[in-house]
Amino acid sequence: MNSKINSQRRDFLKYTGVSAAAVATYPAFVHAASSGAVNKPSANFHADVEIELKQEVVNISIFDGPKTRVWKVFGKVLKGSSKTVENLSGTYLAPTLHFQTGQKVRIYLKNNLPSESILHWHGLHVPSKMDGNPMYAINNGETFVYEFEILNRAGTYWYHAHTHSVTAKQVYSGLAGLIIVSDKKEQALALPKGQYDVPIVIQDRSFDRNNQLQYSNHMMQRMQGFLGDQIMINGQPDFVLPVENRSYRLRLLNGSNSRIYKLAWDDGSPVTIIGTDGGLIEKPETMPYVMLAPAERRELWIDFSKKSIGTELTLRSIPFEGAAMHGGMMGRRGGMGGGMMGGRRGMGGMMSGGSLPAGGDYPVLKVKIVKKARSNDTLPKRLTPITPLRLGDAENVKNPRKIALSMRHMSALLNGRSYKMNDIRPDEVIPVNSLQLMQFDNGYHGGHGMAMPHPMHLHGEQFQVIKREVNIRHQHSHATVAEGLVDNGWKDTTLVMPGERVTFLKPFNDFKGLFMYHCHNLEHEDMGMMRDYLIK
Ligand code: C2O
Ligand code: CU
Ligand code: CU
Repeated sequence: MNSKINSQRRDFLKYTGVSAAAVATYPAFVHAASSGAVNKPSANFHADVEIELKQEVVNISIFDGPKTRVWKVFGKVLKGSSKTVENLSGTYLAPTLHFQTGQKVRIYLKNNLPSESILHWHGLHVPSKMDGNPMYAINNGETFVYEFEILNRAGTYWYHAHTHSVTAKQVYSGLAGLIIVSDKKEQALALPKGQYDVPIVIQDRSFDRNNQLQYSNHMMQRMQGFLGDQIMINGQPDFVLPVENRSYRLRLLNGSNSRIYKLAWDDGSPVTIIGTDGGLIEKPETMPYVMLAPAERRELWIDFSKKSIGTELTLRSIPFEGAAMHGGMMGRRGGMGGGMMGGRRGMGGMMSGGSLPAGGDYPVLKVKIVKKARSNDTLPKRLTPITPLRLGDAENVKNPRKIALSMRHMSALLNGRSYKMNDIRPDEVIPVNSLQLMQFDNGYHGGHGMAMPHPMHLHGEQFQVIKREVNIRHQHSHATVAEGLVDNGWKDTTLVMPGERVTFLKPFNDFKGLFMYHCHNLEHEDMGMMRDYLIK
């Protein structure tokens, strides 16, 4: 494993050293797709699959009546299996990309948008230059060439725009899609496959009477995060999933800008979790409901075999506390059942999510049993093994790296700082090939300013949560989400509720350079709740 990765790192270093003259020596490697390229394909990188992703402004039919103007990604396979890219019609969603662990992938990103833009591969462990840091944004007419090997295990990952200060708007307009990685261990399991393995991207949007996407990021949305008044599933309104009476694997992604879901089946069935951000967990877990914060993934197992044809079932978001802004400028109003929601509703539907207030009660995914199944799969007792990271292997066992989350004076901060490009402070330098003990602290020791939940994300390799603590003042509201937090398995994003401190172990192997850490409430991110680590 290590030698493979080390040789890959050498390739990467060579890559960055390729000069214009060196590229000219290998004209055969300059693919036609790279016109307007800001970088060139590397002669040393032998891609198994090559794809083109073109970003364009188009009008598509989402509703009856006027078409909706969206920012859409169109994919094309240049080399490798045609199944690598699955374009989706009737939605703003970007194509689903299907990769195998170990594949070498080259992606030509062509930007035909009236704005600069860059794509990031969320959850994938790729070299810094290939990670879609905002500093690599390309202009209209330009192409960025990505090259990386799929080092991650099988799982549900995603990609989205990561453009400086406009990520929220660009993702909202359509620049996001799924990445499904498969590997041998996963394929060997008797889990539902093909049409019984269903991706479910959950997002909220607001449309005006002419079917146009509405977005606003005035102060209120930036502090709370944008909330739409309509749930979209896989980029479609009023979505109903037709199923057979058998078991299914549902891969949920919360692709919303800021909305947090507390998901439960409306017939009282428990929720069975088989996977999280970094793929399958070791064994299935059942819980009354599951929390899903922006950017998080959860894989659900659900068996409809006891249901009769015609039955409908709904995955609902059910009430919880701590979702809306509290304290500071909003005043303390107790839980969500109190004056908070009423007050926000009074400020205008679009700000507050209208009929879908944060922490409210509303349907998310409707399922209808329409057909008798010919076969079924039984839930495996064991899924895939996960090597636990060991506290003793951390370089800083006695001195965890703290990331303090705060919202003060109309800004959202990490350790009191706002995002700035190329602004690495001494505590943001991390040695390569080290394991770090880290902590997100969301007012665990009290503190002033506003208490908001923050879905915290780190780029690069995934991490493992080892401890979650809540301060006494927040225990009551925390109890409304506690049973639905899944900390098992590999994670790249974790929900940090008000008053919480989350301790985790994060490896920084293989790649040097800049890797971001930020809040995945995209309005918070754009407001500056984001920083870079320098791995060296
Ligand atoms: Cu999903 Cu830095 O992002
Ligand atoms: Cu990411
Ligand atoms: Cu946040």
